[in-house]
Amino acid sequence: MTWFSSPDDASSRLHGAGYLADAATATTTFLAGALEKPLLIEGPAGVGKTELAKAVARATGADLIRLQCYEGLDEARALYEWNYKKQLLRIQASSGDEGWSETHDDIFTDEFLLSRPLLTAIRRDEPTVLLIDEVDKTDVEVEGLLLEVLSDFQVTIPELGTVAATRRPFVVLTSNATRELSEAVKRRCLYLHLDYPDAAREREIVTSQVPGLDDAVAGQLVDVVARLRELELKKAPSIAESVDWARTLIALEIDDLDEAAVRQTLGVVLKHASDHARAVKELRLASR
Ligand SMILES: Nc1ncnc2c1ncn2[C@@H]1O[C@H](COP(=O)(O)OP(=O)(O)OP(=O)(O)O)[C@@H](O)[C@H]1O
Ligand SMILES: [Mg+2]
Repeated sequence: MTWFSSPDDASSRLHGAGYLADAATATTTFLAGALEKPLLIEGPAGVGKTELAKAVARATGADLIRLQCYEGLDEARALYEWNYKKQLLRIQASSGDEGWSETHDDIFTDEFLLSRPLLTAIRRDEPTVLLIDEVDKTDVEVEGLLLEVLSDFQVTIPELGTVAATRRPFVVLTSNATRELSEAVKRRCLYLHLDYPDAAREREIVTSQVPGLDDAVAGQLVDVVARLRELELKKAPSIAESVDWARTLIALEIDDLDEAAVRQTLGVVLKHASDHARAVKELRLASR
């Protein structure tokens, strides 16, 4: 299967799936499909990293399989695990005259295997997008587990042998860059750095997701958000917050985002008391 026929094709089909990609994003997404290489997306929170993987699935009609990474994630949660309970039952049920090697051969078969996201994605015959979300949250050792999947699209199970993909999934890894990923992982991936969009694109994203938003207010909103991002805040507002803000303005029927309106609704955009105080001070100074 070819995922996308060109960068333009990627751009327009992602758009159709509700994702507005800039030129670099569309090109890298096209290449990841064409070269069958995993795509590593890095960038701050809420800029559309996870959403891109979901949009690729929607745009291509593929199923999305997600491995959510966290501290302590291990092989048994990421790859596969033997169903010990079922194996025990099988051993107990086997008649005494069956030899150990027969029982052993019997309990290390597919029937006793619990497949986790990485193995599941490799074994599927249908088009699949494999999202390995927030890789930087795992321990470094987990990256070792990923390498076989990322470079050879296969998983080795000692008791069963090597399971190779019949159809390569479209693999997307996301990271907030809270730590550097290993060179070994990076080498196997195409790299895309996603950042906050420019004002025009953000306006487009917000108006496409919040129908009924007044054009002038959308412009004001995007401007204020851009100014907030320039302040040194603990947590700068992301695209998700811009969209929430737009919904808030509609719900409150606010059609002019003046200082009073900003103050009244700032809690939708900034989630730290210190950021709040700072924004109120700086925005007022700036508008004088
Ligand atoms: N290019 C885009 N087109 C349309 N919507 C977008 C785009 N970028 C971001 N969004 C919106 O922003 C929201 C947040 O994006 P997403 O959850 O993908 O962020 P993220 O980068 O994965 O953040 P985190 O690092 O916190 O997981 C999405 O639900 C989506 O509505
Ligand atoms: Mg995410």
